[in-house]
Amino acid sequence: MLDYTDRHFRVLMRQISRHALLYSEMVVAQALHHGRRERLLDFDPLEKPLVLQLGGDDPQLLAESTRLAAAWNYDEVNLNVGCPSAKVQQGRFGACLMADPERVARCVEAMAAASPLPVTVKHRIGIDERDSYGELLAFVDTLAAAGAQRFSVHARKAWLEGLDPKQNRTVPPLRYDLVQALKQDRPQLRLELNGGLENLQDCQQQLAWADGVMVGRAAYNHPLHWNLVDREIFGARADDPPKASTVLRGVIPYAERWCSAGGRLWPIARHLVHLVEGVSGARHWRRQLGEAAGGRTAGPEVLERASQQLEEQGL
Ligand SMILES: Cc1cc2nc3c(=O)[nH]c(=O)nc-3n(C[C@H](O)[C@H](O)[C@H](O)COP(=O)(O)O)c2cc1C
Repeated sequence: MLDYTDRHFRVLMRQISRHALLYSEMVVAQALHHGRRERLLDFDPLEKPLVLQLGGDDPQLLAESTRLAAAWNYDEVNLNVGCPSAKVQQGRFGACLMADPERVARCVEAMAAASPLPVTVKHRIGIDERDSYGELLAFVDTLAAAGAQRFSVHARKAWLEGLDPKQNRTVPPLRYDLVQALKQDRPQLRLELNGGLENLQDCQQQLAWADGVMVGRAAYNHPLHWNLVDREIFGARADDPPKASTVLRGVIPYAERWCSAGGRLWPIARHLVHLVEGVSGARHWRRQLGEAAGGRTAGPEVLERASQQLEEQGL
């Protein structure tokens, strides 16, 4: 998720689940072509397994980006065919590409040929008036034939004209039934359901038929709600689920590396404030952390103090 699932947030989530597949923000192939690659691609090895999500509509540029993803040691590349923002539409990629399955197929083919990394696609169930089940079926069939290995389906259509991106994540109704029908009709395809999954129970329910689930906003806004993912979804050993203080402590060595390389603490700390919610003193703790981490010279010791405070409260 743009501006949210950056490397710092992914380090936080990795303290909560060792096994969940994490995705980058969308990185535009054109931007990668023109440079600033380290800033766009660098990540910490502890974030793996990690998917690089790409935006674009040019097979050659996407192939080049895929080669970079492989050189950077990502685990998978995912093509964004779901974003409805005006800026992305102007670039003629994102959700509007659902109107041109052949072009997306050429992109997927070029990406698949460019490296050994699996190529996957994130898309909607339809756009504008092109929202019939038949069109959805033809879309995934075309891309599967081109080499797409998994589909992350945001189970609502997008209105490219008339709704803004935020409305396009809430207004069109969720249609899990259509994604489920897709799985029934194409059992050989690997389908990952996305959209409106609020908690582990929601995910478990849909995993009865879906090959995977993808969680966006609920993971960002309530990271600790997912601390049973490894045990309940991946069948990992029954360790105690991590607490807020454990998660925060886990981030400190990374923060030390980041800050000693000249990075500021705030880009890391801004994600951590969501760790504590719904308990007395939460607001006070968040405010204190925000104030202490915002300063130019703030360093990992701020996180040390914040985690001590949590430990003292048994959190
Ligand atoms: C702030 C924000 C940024 C997003 N950026 C991206 C993005 O870069 N790539 C993408 O595929 N989806 C992006 N999305 C959409 C989410 O990945 C997801 O499909 C959508 O929010 C529905 O899932 P959810 O209900 O679990 O959040 C973004 C969503 C939000 C709220």
